[in-house]
Amino acid sequence: MQPDPSKKNLRPLGILALFLVLGVGVLTAVNTARNWSVSARARKLENPVPSTDAAIAAGMQIYADHCRSCHGEKGDGKGPKAAELSVAPGDFTDQRKMRRLADGELFWQITRGRLPMPAFEDKLSEEARWQVVDYIRTFSEKPAGSPPAAPARHDAGPQP
Ligand code: HEC
Repeated sequence: MQPDPSKKNLRPLGILALFLVLGVGVLTAVNTARNWSVSARARKLENPVPSTDAAIAAGMQIYADHCRSCHGEKGDGKGPKAAELSVAPGDFTDQRKMRRLADGELFWQITRGRLPMPAFEDKLSEEARWQVVDYIRTFSEKPAGSPPAAPARHDAGPQP
């Protein structure tokens, strides 16, 4: 007897198709979570913590406690733990790369992490994560050892 192509026989196919669609959905979601540079939404996130001296000082402390071991004292990715990692930690002194990355992306990467980098979503408050974003920006902004202010002019007398 030939199998008869009735609805009953098509049902397993329909179920299979449903699982396929679900599977693709799940894979897409997983892939989105894995991919750091995807999120257009992350790019547009505004940094609510202005880069003030206080924010940078707070970020520096957070960095020393949570990030320096891998990313290094100078932010160049050469921390003491870096050599043991399967992936090299990011280099924050790379001006071109840092200019390309929006604050929101850095925030998102810190929030989510990506192995071997841990996620900081549960370890640091949102404010702390923005402060550390402000701080890691400083690695690519000022050339190391640059004088803090323009030299004083000798001929500048008091203004009338
Ligand atoms: C266990 C080591 C480790 C620690 C601790 C760590 N990171 Fe990372 N980080 C990495 C690695 C490795 C990468 C590169 C991951 C990749 O490309 O897949 C990375 C990448 C990044 C990136 C992506 C940009 C880039 O340059 O690649 C940012 C931003 C970042 N880390 C910030 C931080 C901050 C901020 C902290 C502390 C709150 C921190 N990380 C703590 C290892 C670490």
